[in-house]
Amino acid sequence: MESEAKIDLDELQKRILGLVQDEPDPIARMANICSELHGHRPYFWTGWYRVSNGELVLGPFQGPTACTRIQKGKGVCGTAWERNETVVVPDVEDFPGHIACDPRSRSEIVLPVRDDRDEVAAVLDIDSEQKNAFDRAEQDFLEVLLRSIEPLTRP
Ligand code: SME
Repeated sequence: MESEAKIDLDELQKRILGLVQDEPDPIARMANICSELHGHRPYFWTGWYRVSNGELVLGPFQGPTACTRIQKGKGVCGTAWERNETVVVPDVEDFPGHIACDPRSRSEIVLPVRDDRDEVAAVLDIDSEQKNAFDRAEQDFLEVLLRSIEPLTRP
C-alpha cells in the first residue's frame, strides 16, 4: 500500500507507542491510535468497535458515519471477534455477510485486541476504497502495533 503521508511504518509505530504508552485509559489510547493511523496511512475508514454487553459497539473512529452495533459472528468485525484472529478481506464483494456501512469501502482488515484475561476487548477495523489494499506488510505492521498495546483494558 502506498502511503500518501511520507512516514515509514517503523517511524509511525514509534510515534504511536510514544503517544499511548503512558496513557492508561483505553478510549484515549484508541482515539489517538485511530487518529495517527488515519492521518498517516491512505485509509478510508479507521476505527474501533468495543465489546460491550455481548456485542460490538462503535468506538473512536475517523471517516464517514458508521453502523453502531455488530453482533458476534456477523460481518467482518463480528467474524474477527468470534475467531479471535485477524480477518483480511481483499474484496468485500467476496465476503458473505460483509456489512456495508459505506459503499465506497472495497477492501478491509479487522484485528482483535485483547484484555488482561486474554479475551477480545475490541476490534480495529480499517477500510480502503481500493481492492487488495492490505498486504502482508500492512497486516504485520498493524498486528505488531496492537500486540504492543495489549492488554487494552486492565482491572
Ligand atoms: N464492514 C464492517 C462493518 C463496519 S464498517 O466497515 C465501518 C463489517 O463487515 O463488519
